[in-house]
Amino acid sequence: MSVRFYRKGILVSEVECFQSLNLLAHAQMEEVETGSECGGHGRCGKDRIWIPEEDRKKLNAPTFPETRLLSIEMIDSGWRLACQTFPALDGMQITVKFDAD
Ligand code: FES
Repeated sequence: MSVRFYRKGILVSEVECFQSLNLLAHAQMEEVETGSECGGHGRCGKDRIWIPEEDRKKLNAPTFPETRLLSIEMIDSGWRLACQTFPALDGMQITVKFDAD
């Protein structure tokens, strides 16, 4: 199972899923551009990703930096920061989008 990255509905990369790595690190393994400007320190808010509803329960709860950098409405509708988001287990199938389409 894997983390699959989609941009504008098109699969751009697929990488093995590791519980110990955040989704920014998964993207970086395949050189998928996320927009990160702070190197994954939870400060820039530029690495926004959107997770389909069926996959949200496979991730950690939103972190303090996410509650500071994203609105409650964004979090409730599936937006996360890649550097703050971790798979709950190894080997999960997770879809990551850079837009909510
Ligand atoms: S990389 Fe800057 S907040 Fe995630």
